[in-house]
Amino acid sequence: MLRIQTFTRKEIVAYLDDLAQLRISVFREYPYLYDGSLDYEKEYLQTFLEAKDGIVVAAFDKNQVVGISTGLPLAQEPASVIGQWATEDVASIYYFSESVLDRDYRGQGIGVQFFQTREAWARELGFRQAVFCGVVRPDNHLLKPVDYLPLDQFWQKRGFTKKEGYFAEMSWLDIGGEEETTKILQYWWKAL
Ligand SMILES: CC(C)(COP(=O)(O)OP(=O)(O)OC[C@H]1O[C@@H](n2cnc3c(N)ncnc32)[C@H](O)[C@@H]1OP(=O)(O)O)[C@@H](O)C(=O)NCCC(=O)NCCS
Repeated sequence: MLRIQTFTRKEIVAYLDDLAQLRISVFREYPYLYDGSLDYEKEYLQTFLEAKDGIVVAAFDKNQVVGISTGLPLAQEPASVIGQWATEDVASIYYFSESVLDRDYRGQGIGVQFFQTREAWARELGFRQAVFCGVVRPDNHLLKPVDYLPLDQFWQKRGFTKKEGYFAEMSWLDIGGEEETTKILQYWWKAL
């Protein structure tokens, strides 16, 4: 029995370990290839407890967290994430930070619900645009699975368009890497 739940700040504390673990396991996959640590993840998720108007949506199979999706006002992100949006009305933009779903639960409409729930939340708060970014990897990347399907179609179906020339920069340790490297992430946007 799957259920989707939107969390208030206090309620989510009980699930921080589970959520952190899920991010680590899903973001190990291409194209993220992220070699995460539980401590860093818990600190990262803590920001959503502190972010004004942040949202955490989680999918459960019984009591097990199988998916998580988060968002917060773009203005609360660092300048390296805001990127070229700084030239626009940043206060009107809501940022979708991530959607991660255990592989076994994909293709059942949960990802669509993650987007719908966050969009409804941002709209209700009066934001006028929703944006997110996805990491850019070279087409010939050695770790790209042969059956890899980019999510572009999934995002386009949700009404998002690639925002040419708009990028975020983030650093993390790649699997097999020795130190963190900076990645470029392409922005997508949608009017709410
Ligand atoms: C993104 C993600 C949450 C989508 O979740 P999901 O629950 O499998 O998606 P849904 O079942 O809601 O899919 C809805 C539609 O998108 C389609 N779709 C899903 N993934 C797709 C893909 N990679 N390429 C093309 N279409 C895709 C589905 O076939 C379905 O189409 P339909 O409406 O015509 O039936 C999931 O794929 C995931 O966790 N991916 C790994 C992490 C990641 O890359 N996250 C994005 C960056 S934060």
